Amino acid sequence: MYVYLNGQIKPKEEVALSVDDRGFTFGEGVYEVVRVYGRVPFLLAEHMERLERSAAEMEIPLPEYFTLGHWQQAISQLVEKNNLPECFVYLQLTRGVQFRNHAFKDDLQPTTVMYLIAGKSWDQERQGVKATLADDIRWHRCDVKSTMLMANTLAKTRAARQGYFEVIFERDGWITEGSSSNVFFVKNGKLITPPLSNYILPGITRQFVLQLADRVGIEYQERPVRVRELPGMDEVFISATGIEIIPVNQLDGLRYQAPGPVFSCLRAAFDKSTKELRK
Ligand code: PDD
Repeated sequence: MYVYLNGQIKPKEEVALSVDDRGFTFGEGVYEVVRVYGRVPFLLAEHMERLERSAAEMEIPLPEYFTLGHWQQAISQLVEKNNLPECFVYLQLTRGVQFRNHAFKDDLQPTTVMYLIAGKSWDQERQGVKATLADDIRWHRCDVKSTMLMANTLAKTRAARQGYFEVIFERDGWITEGSSSNVFFVKNGKLITPPLSNYILPGITRQFVLQLADRVGIEYQERPVRVRELPGMDEVFISATGIEIIPVNQLDGLRYQAPGPVFSCLRAAFDKSTKELRK
């Protein structure tokens, strides 16, 4: 397996990271996961824009060499060297190396790591998955794609132990998002998703689903959703780069049609666009 470290591609065994990397000691990092369909990275410019924003908000300067063109080229090389035309790119950028001290120096050189993850098919999950609600105990900057994900990983693992595919977070009676996904609802044929705020990640897939809705003529609303509205919803589904969109057939004691008609329509539109990419 070939991986990328600070601008260079090397066999994984030859790569070493410092124990003083602040990504290791403090979890100070930002990241992106990008889907590659038939060797073509999907929505890469959108991922770059979000990465730049996450890095700026966390005061991690992007290295000068790390431009969109450089990223594109590095992904192509990784795809070729690893022979993985259908995969995900994981990119992580940490603050850099400094002997442990809470206060960080301003002149650190960020560490950039990138590797590929083989693509996975979700055929069974597309028939519906179980989800559960959990208290959203995360910090107030969930709009930043930070590697500090302990609240997410704990919630996901505890739910997975009980057979749930995803956790949907609620904060003070309002739905925010999944532990690693955004969430959509359908009511009377209309698509509803919580609005962007500091409490949710501006998902690239979420934005793409809204564009697809426009394309196929499904009305949508970005508006806050209360937990107590859940029994009145007709469909629920989640979105993320790794899973595209997956319908939820059970949210704790509530049952939903999965796949429902609105989901199926968006699913078909999604498949159509990714098939075009592979041509
Ligand atoms: N996670 N919300 C959270 C908390 C997420 O972790 C993710 C994605 C999303 C969806 O974002 P996007 O559509 O841009 O992938 C929403 C990635 C895939 C991960 O951590 O692996």
